[in-house]
Amino acid sequence: MLRRFTLVLVTVLTALTGMGARTAFAKMTPEEVLALMTLEDKVNLVVGTLRDYVYWPEPAPGMPVRSQGPVEDSRGATAFTSGDVEGAAGETYAIERLGIPSIVLADGPAGVRIDATRADDEMTYYCTAFPNATLLAATWDTDMVNNVGAAVGSEAQSYGVDILLAPGINIIRNPLGGRNFEYYSEDPFLAGKMGASFIRGVQSNGVGATVKHFVANNQETTRNGIDVVVSQRALRDIYLEPFRIAVTEGKPMAVMTAYNKVNGTVMPENRFLLTEILRDEWGFDGFVMTDWWAEGSGDKQIAAGNDMLMPGTWRQYDEIMKAIEVGSLDIEKLDQSVLNILRAIKNTPTGAGRRHDNKPDLESHATLARQVATQGMVLLKNNDKTLPLENRQKVALFGNGSYDTFIGGTGSSKVNNKYKVNIAEGLESAGKILDPSLSQFYTKHISDYKADKPADDMWNTAVTPEAAISQEEIIRAANNNDVAIITIARMAGESADRTLTEGDWFLSDAERQNLVNITSAFHELGKPVVVLLNMGSIVDMTDWNDLPDAILHIWLPGQEAGHAVADVLSGKVNPSGRLPFTIARRYQDYGSANEFPHSENPATVYYTDDIFVGYRHFYHNKIAPLYKFGHGLSYTVFHISIIRDRDETDPDMIVVDVTNTGDRNGAFTFLSFEDNELRDNPTKQVYAPYELIGFGKTKVLSPGETQRLRVKIR
Ligand code: BGC
Repeated sequence: MLRRFTLVLVTVLTALTGMGARTAFAKMTPEEVLALMTLEDKVNLVVGTLRDYVYWPEPAPGMPVRSQGPVEDSRGATAFTSGDVEGAAGETYAIERLGIPSIVLADGPAGVRIDATRADDEMTYYCTAFPNATLLAATWDTDMVNNVGAAVGSEAQSYGVDILLAPGINIIRNPLGGRNFEYYSEDPFLAGKMGASFIRGVQSNGVGATVKHFVANNQETTRNGIDVVVSQRALRDIYLEPFRIAVTEGKPMAVMTAYNKVNGTVMPENRFLLTEILRDEWGFDGFVMTDWWAEGSGDKQIAAGNDMLMPGTWRQYDEIMKAIEVGSLDIEKLDQSVLNILRAIKNTPTGAGRRHDNKPDLESHATLARQVATQGMVLLKNNDKTLPLENRQKVALFGNGSYDTFIGGTGSSKVNNKYKVNIAEGLESAGKILDPSLSQFYTKHISDYKADKPADDMWNTAVTPEAAISQEEIIRAANNNDVAIITIARMAGESADRTLTEGDWFLSDAERQNLVNITSAFHELGKPVVVLLNMGSIVDMTDWNDLPDAILHIWLPGQEAGHAVADVLSGKVNPSGRLPFTIARRYQDYGSANEFPHSENPATVYYTDDIFVGYRHFYHNKIAPLYKFGHGLSYTVFHISIIRDRDETDPDMIVVDVTNTGDRNGAFTFLSFEDNELRDNPTKQVYAPYELIGFGKTKVLSPGETQRLRVKIR
């Protein structure tokens, strides 16, 4: 034993002096590296590098007072600038002596977020803006989501990013959640499966993925420290479940803790959830990081199993040092966190010594962004085969969103992409003729409004108020065109929830008035009206759902928005997306309506809806939604025959034949639900009547074609 130890040490020392520290690091095991680290090294590694930005919050009594304000850090990086990848969210501390490199972490769920330009550098560093996560879920296509993850991961790798801060897989609990667009679904199974697919895609490039925000981060109001009071059953079955699936099936390199508390304990200090469930029960073997500037103290976070504190403050450094010194934090706990991080670093591109070329394949990723956007759009309504628009060439295009399309939300998920294709441009390039007077009006209306507004940035996107169009103009447009298309658009983003107000949840006066006047004028002439919903979540629809002939939810479709919309409207692509959440008739019909965003004082939110989230609530309480979870129409018709239901020989598989009995090509998405009424239930436990347990999607089937789908059940 002693001999072996001596041998290792000799090897290590030779390595450090002879081969250069970096090579030595690559050759050593994490345990060997740990053995050479001082206490300062260890604490440096668990605390991110932006600590000079500000000593935040105020130093506790008895703690040293360090520098304040945004100054350069020890390696010359200014605040919010990660090493040589500018605009990345954070980085880890390099320990040159031991060859431990700094690794770079960057957002996010709709594409890599880094700065597109750099001072004194002629090169550009644009990334592809993919559609938002809810659209990805609406494809119900895990292979497609895997491909998107792979493309995002490869851009990250090309630009020198080691760990992507995505996917976000929190449950969409309420339609007003500010970050709903970054998340997949109201259903844990769907969210978990999508998360796992995205993770696998990202990590196929050697870049790590981070599943976030663990856990019960379902609102933005008072997100720092709001206490989520939730039953153990709802926590397990609804809120933890997507993480369990993503962690066990996707095996992400990292998990990011949420800002909120769960049942009284702030998440980064929540030992029960971080250690007992995440690690001990699910076997997570990556590392856990905090969300940026999360509340809590460094030592308690390490003790709970939150390995890395991001983006790092001196306060956390001092707290850990002090706790080790006075013995309130065991060195073994700190060592464990260091090992978790070292293991991950060694597996990142930088840790493995791979070079990056700053040459991502933006062209093929744009093609993928367009393709996936078409697959996730959901046709909610299509009376009298209004869509596709085939022979209707002349389009009266209304709504600001038609000319200034929202392609993503604000906050950390915002991508610095090179261009975006607005709906108007997409339709024109597909050969549609847009009413010139409307185009001119909207272009001017939008640019006038934006003239004195600051340019869009990470936190802000100018949202032009909708203009009421005069009756004369509408009648003129109806006379001159074959169809009206109206885009209703909503922006949302990190740090604020949406509101139950006109212009947000409800239509604004101008939007409502336009919709009424346009439908009446066009219908008078026997011409149809199509509404496009350009948003990450949903608005109240009951008020106006009956007016238009067709409604297509296009979400926040990424930089290729206009092309993708044109592909679906023209019939080049037949929609096969389905809703990953329920659309209620009234806001009050949602199970969380009375407990969202939270009870004001104290800052607590009671999840009284318990396990009855989304469709579970609607079925359980027998409330008819406007559009149910899984709803989505097609331009063709399918016939489904169950070839084999679950049986004793294969309880985990359903086999169905899907036949396209219509007259157009199209893909079909099959969903399978557990009928809990049939469940063996001796304890009389109350279950949601139905639960999603499987789904599958066919290829594009031509008329008459049949495909046998084998759908795996959870
Ligand atoms: C967000 C995270 C993000 C982090 C780094 C936080 O504000 O909540 O989702 O990954 O910033 O940008």
